[in-house]
Amino acid sequence: MSRLNSRTSWLVRSQLPVEYEIAETPELLSPGNLELLAVPGGGQGKGTRLVIVDDAVDALYGARIRSYFAHHEAAVEYLVLPGREENKSIERVLEVVDRLNEVGTNRLSTPPLVIGGGVVADVVGLAASLYRRGVPYVRVPTTLLSQVDVSVAAKTGVNYGGYRNRLGSYSPPPRTLIDRAFLATVPERELRNGMGEIFKMALIKDRRLFELLEQYGAGLIRTRFQDPEPGSDGVPGAVADEVIGRAIAGMAEELEPNLWEKDLQRSVDYGHSFSPLVEMRALPELLHGEAVAMDCVFSALIAANRGLIAAGDLGRIVAAARRIGLAPSHPLFTDADLVLEGLADTVRHRDGQQNLPVLTAIGEVCFLNDVSEPEIKQACEGMAELLESDSFGSLTPSPAEAGSSR
Ligand SMILES: NC(=O)c1ccc[n+]([C@@H]2O[C@H](COP(=O)([O-])OP(=O)(O)OC[C@H]3O[C@@H](n4cnc5c(N)ncnc54)[C@H](O)[C@@H]3O)[C@@H](O)[C@H]2O)c1
Ligand SMILES: [Zn+2]
Repeated sequence: MSRLNSRTSWLVRSQLPVEYEIAETPELLSPGNLELLAVPGGGQGKGTRLVIVDDAVDALYGARIRSYFAHHEAAVEYLVLPGREENKSIERVLEVVDRLNEVGTNRLSTPPLVIGGGVVADVVGLAASLYRRGVPYVRVPTTLLSQVDVSVAAKTGVNYGGYRNRLGSYSPPPRTLIDRAFLATVPERELRNGMGEIFKMALIKDRRLFELLEQYGAGLIRTRFQDPEPGSDGVPGAVADEVIGRAIAGMAEELEPNLWEKDLQRSVDYGHSFSPLVEMRALPELLHGEAVAMDCVFSALIAANRGLIAAGDLGRIVAAARRIGLAPSHPLFTDADLVLEGLADTVRHRDGQQNLPVLTAIGEVCFLNDVSEPEIKQACEGMAELLESDSFGSLTPSPAEAGSSR
């Protein structure tokens, strides 16, 4: 007898609740602060933990990190990994895996700890998600960009085959610890890079944050988000906390309902529609946040040309970007063919739709799916005009800056 129509199947259905914490905790490296010792799920764990440290962080804070764990007689071993985009590779992931093997990482009770910028956080996050098919880890972001953006992210990833973040996973660490004291040593250009993402967050959903950037953005960069000396007139620490806090809260609020990105209409993609290709073509001239800020302006030009926002708002946006040291335009953004090519790739990434987040006011977005070629060309002309009036001129970094860039 034929078995042709006798199909049998079993359906397995399960749910995975996800919960992870991002905590701001001052003086993280003081022996009196016990946050670094605590293991998610409770207690201080048993066994040896691997502490992975960004090379720049190791040079600046390595002694304090080691004396912190020595003071508490904690069983830890160290691995120093380089930051910077070119080190976001699968080879580095395997290096972490080898060290996890050597120290004898347990399934749950010895979560690795990563202290550094977004690059090492992404590398270690991917290693942790692969190791034994996933072990928990703890993240301590030390650049502005990683504190306000990577800190909230569920994603990990490395570059592969010439593509950014081509290999990765969704595996948020149960705990991320933030101390803005680390920003005291972050190069100014890297701080501006992080400001690009804060600027985006302000534009899409937080007018108060935008006003804080207008008023204090330049000062925050100058003082590296640190408390002013008593009696001096620096930006109050409370403002630094509010700016970082609002950026994190805004990001968390946007990501939470769409953590696995099943909905491809994401307002956090603002500033990320045209910039990816420009950023890659400009490499190594532009940092991510710098290209994002330009895309924010480009998208605002589209909105202004459609009458969605007032010309005055556009002017404020451009002025705010300049004030925090982010150039609003770049020659590549005046090249309509390139921008259209970038948009075409973004449409593929958004599964066939433009889903372009565009401002309807400072602090509000809508999504467009019918932005036409003439509109893109018109916005490119606007970027050319901005370039002419750009007091910053070319964005080519000085040799000193180039040395510190990714
Ligand atoms: N997982 C996500 O969803 C997500 C989100 C946003 C960005 N990212 C990734 O983050 C990466 C960018 O992160 P980044 O901007 O932190 O770059 P980065 O990690 O390369 O850090 C920039 C530089 O600063 C150094 N550094 C780190 N902390 C320092 C400190 N306290 N003082 C002095 N120097 C310090 C680093 O060694 C590096 O040279 C990108 O690869 C991006 O794809 C990931
Ligand atoms: Zn970004």
